[in-house]
Amino acid sequence: MQKNGKIFTLTRRNRRVDYNDLEWKYLEGDGDFISDEVKKLRDEADFIITNPPFSLFREFISWLFEADKKFVIIGNKNSITYKEVFPLIKENKMWSGRTEWSGGLWFGTIDKNDVDKVIDNKNYKNVSSIWFTNIDHGRRHKPLELMSMADNIKFNKKIKECPYPKYDNYDAIEVCVTNGIPSDYDGVMGVPISFLDKYCPEQFEIVGGSMAYETTACHIMKDYVDLGYKFVKADGVAISGSGALKDKMSPKIMGKGTKDYSISPSGDYLHAV
Ligand SMILES: C[S@@+](CC[C@H](N)C(=O)[O-])C[C@H]1O[C@@H](n2cnc3c(N)ncnc32)[C@H](O)[C@@H]1O
Repeated sequence: MQKNGKIFTLTRRNRRVDYNDLEWKYLEGDGDFISDEVKKLRDEADFIITNPPFSLFREFISWLFEADKKFVIIGNKNSITYKEVFPLIKENKMWSGRTEWSGGLWFGTIDKNDVDKVIDNKNYKNVSSIWFTNIDHGRRHKPLELMSMADNIKFNKKIKECPYPKYDNYDAIEVCVTNGIPSDYDGVMGVPISFLDKYCPEQFEIVGGSMAYETTACHIMKDYVDLGYKFVKADGVAISGSGALKDKMSPKIMGKGTKDYSISPSGDYLHAV
């Protein structure tokens, strides 16, 4: 039995698209996107629309950008922070698709042991994935409606709990929720990664991320281990293993917070966000 994947071709005849004109044949190779056969198809394409293997997402992104094509692809939400992905978003070479991120994406599944919901006897699985594209769409240019700092502190429940603390290791303020971004602050703000879902390039500039490979201009180099900090669990006694307290990139703010925290040699408290 032929095991190779199929290639479908639909040719428009007399300016008419007719499903009955669909033709198909087997690929010669195994369909690996790195193969010359599939690269040739990629190079012929105007648009690449696919759900690539998440485990090869870095390789797939490099394959995609090598060809300089318009694309709409699905990726895992976590992939945003990859060093092969985040710079593309920062430089506006790739952005979130039209579909909002909350709720993930739903896929039909044949694995009966891993089902999140059933509709009309069909099993579906929710995957924390999102669309990425380099095709422009209206939502991307819709600015976020913002309130002033004072109004957020007064009316935004989350901001009320953490009213824009300044980081210890970034020249920036922490904005713990996207809907708490103030309208009247011009400096650098640290926002949740999910902000990218609402990112309008005419309204904001992405200056960097807090990932270990980033060289964000507002980052203040501090080595908390070398500086003699002590890292403890919320009880203030047991030693904390939290990497986010000790590493050089995770943003830290003053105070004990509610989880693990660190204490400077002069007795100041810091916690990770
Ligand atoms: C995330 S799944 C998407 C499956 C299907 N297209 C869908 O949307 O439900 C990724 C698919 O890529 C295939 N795949 C894995 N490695 C690949 C490679 N090197 N080249 C091409 N396809 C690959 C997997 O077998 C899998 O079917």
